[in-house]
Amino acid sequence: MESVLIVGCGYIGRRVAALLQARGVSVTGLVHSPESAQGLRDQGIRVLQADLDDAVPGVHWAGGFTDIFYFAPPPPRGETDARMAAFLQALDTHAPPRRILYISTSAVYGDCQGRWITEDEPVNPATARGQRRLNAENRLRAWAEANEVQWIVLRVPGIYGPGKLPLARLHAGTPVLREADAPYTNRIHGDDLAAICVVAMGSTHANTIYNISDGHPGNMTDYFFRVADAAGLPRPPEIPRTEAEQVLSPGMLSFLRDSRRMGNEKLLAELEIELEYPDLDAGLKSCFV
Ligand SMILES: NC(=O)c1ccc[n+]([C@@H]2O[C@H](COP(=O)([O-])OP(=O)(O)OC[C@H]3O[C@@H](n4cnc5c(N)ncnc54)[C@H](OP(=O)(O)O)[C@@H]3O)[C@@H](O)[C@H]2O)c1
Repeated sequence: MESVLIVGCGYIGRRVAALLQARGVSVTGLVHSPESAQGLRDQGIRVLQADLDDAVPGVHWAGGFTDIFYFAPPPPRGETDARMAAFLQALDTHAPPRRILYISTSAVYGDCQGRWITEDEPVNPATARGQRRLNAENRLRAWAEANEVQWIVLRVPGIYGPGKLPLARLHAGTPVLREADAPYTNRIHGDDLAAICVVAMGSTHANTIYNISDGHPGNMTDYFFRVADAAGLPRPPEIPRTEAEQVLSPGMLSFLRDSRRMGNEKLLAELEIELEYPDLDAGLKSCFV
């Protein structure tokens, strides 16, 4: 990799940057807050500070990079991703990047009623959150194909790791859906996701989608219980779905509407990935050292 830009250089971006820096690659990270910009400088990452919501059309401020990791989330509302649109406009089509890798989410599949799914599953987002992600994927693919740029989409489920656990929620004693009603959910440790991003960027495989998962789905309630146990906190109270609809946040309810189990066969086989944290037990140990 010659010249790397990480758009939305937060929790995963900084991990990807560290892996690349260890190989001597120079990395630029795009963030919008001054605090995040300072955090990147402290890690030796060059900073592009910009707000993708305020991007000026026609100005190719994101040009000159060969490999681009796009990790910025879509805006919080609506069914489209204007940030992705603004970013693609900021690229110089006369000197385009070699490859763009996008972290999307598994929400693009919608509710699969707990079925095991692969990358062949048709997309069918049931939430605006999933629709925005699908819009971002489609925009990226259309732009990349029109400009002969390689693309990779990673459909990512719940990310966890040190500093990324629902501890505040557990401290607050917020209830969870009773286990019998809880949907299947999939997870990946942040360190494994960062390593996958680096391998995928350097791989000979391109213009393709990978479902990302540790291959050991569980239910959402079991996840909260196991994090509570590992953190030495009380398990949260369980409530039925009718009560959950009244008391849980719209964001949490949107996660509880989708149930699917994602395999990771394509990821492991094509990219020859060996996960450091192949299940929650191994991953949670890394969070409390
Ligand atoms: N959490 C999960 O379980 C999960 C699951 C699937 C996918 N994802 C997605 O995976 C991606 C990486 O996750 P992460 O944990 O690394 O996210 P993160 O730590 O929240 O980082 C997101 C980055 O995007 C930047 N950003 C946000 N809005 C921006 C804007 N308008 N203009 C410019 N930069 C902006 C943020 O900059 P500032 O720091 O300056 O705000 C931050 O650096 C995200 O898209 C996330 O939504 C997350």
